[in-house]
Amino acid sequence: LKRVGYESHDLSVFSYQRIKKFTKGAKLVPVAHLIEEIRVVKSNDEILKLKKAADIAAKAFNHSLNVIKPGVTEAEIAWEMEKYMRGAGAEKMAWEPFIVAAGSNSSMPHYGAGDTKVKKGDMVQLDYGCSWQGYKCDISRVVFVGKPSGEQARIYNLVLEAQNLGLSLVKNGKSGAVVDLKVRNFLEKQTSHFYRHSLGHGVGLEVHELPYVNARRKSRLEAGNVITIEPGIYIPGWGGMRVEDTVLVTKDGYQVLTKAPKQIKEVTI
Ligand code: GLY
Ligand code: MN
Ligand code: MN
Repeated sequence: LKRVGYESHDLSVFSYQRIKKFTKGAKLVPVAHLIEEIRVVKSNDEILKLKKAADIAAKAFNHSLNVIKPGVTEAEIAWEMEKYMRGAGAEKMAWEPFIVAAGSNSSMPHYGAGDTKVKKGDMVQLDYGCSWQGYKCDISRVVFVGKPSGEQARIYNLVLEAQNLGLSLVKNGKSGAVVDLKVRNFLEKQTSHFYRHSLGHGVGLEVHELPYVNARRKSRLEAGNVITIEPGIYIPGWGGMRVEDTVLVTKDGYQVLTKAPKQIKEVTI
């Protein structure tokens, strides 16, 4: 061994030191994201697996509508959804713990699932995914427990509009940065509480991988990429909402893989 590349974004210092010891004389070269770059365009076989994972997750959302009710805790909802996805053949969740955030907990975009009980009038933010034969998916939905208030409906419809805008821009050759900027600019005109995370990211063997759909990253979308589009609005102390789908980039547009309902009437229980 003369030159050995290592994934510097994903290797602990401990492991690096061990590898160094066992590759004496070889030059260790950091190659962050090199393998990911090779796999940004998915093969047909990979797309089938990604579709299967997305299909299981979409059905789990329909299942969640029967589980979410006043008095049930976030963790109980997460467990029921996990059991459903495992029962449908997923070997594991895309990451853990996934997000079930009731009421004002939803203002934290990276919340987990705790012992907060759902109350009437809450919105419940779900953000989860599963793994099918190694391939992941990523979906976010909001559920309203009882008729949404005027403000809840206003914020939700803004988020939906932002997501539709983002999706409408997705196609082969488009700059991911431009897609994010356009959605950000749209929301910024409506609220100061627009998302600070990426508009989206690639999904494959890992739930977050290249390409990033982010104003600060240079990348062009390519047919065969599988990415998320996930704008959100987060209002401290009040709550937040994010709608996210995993989609396949095509020559002329996109194909939604996580086909779960999201119109306000369909997500109100
Ligand atoms: N909750 C992580 C993500 O949607 O990317
Ligand atoms: Mn997500
Ligand atoms: Mn995501």
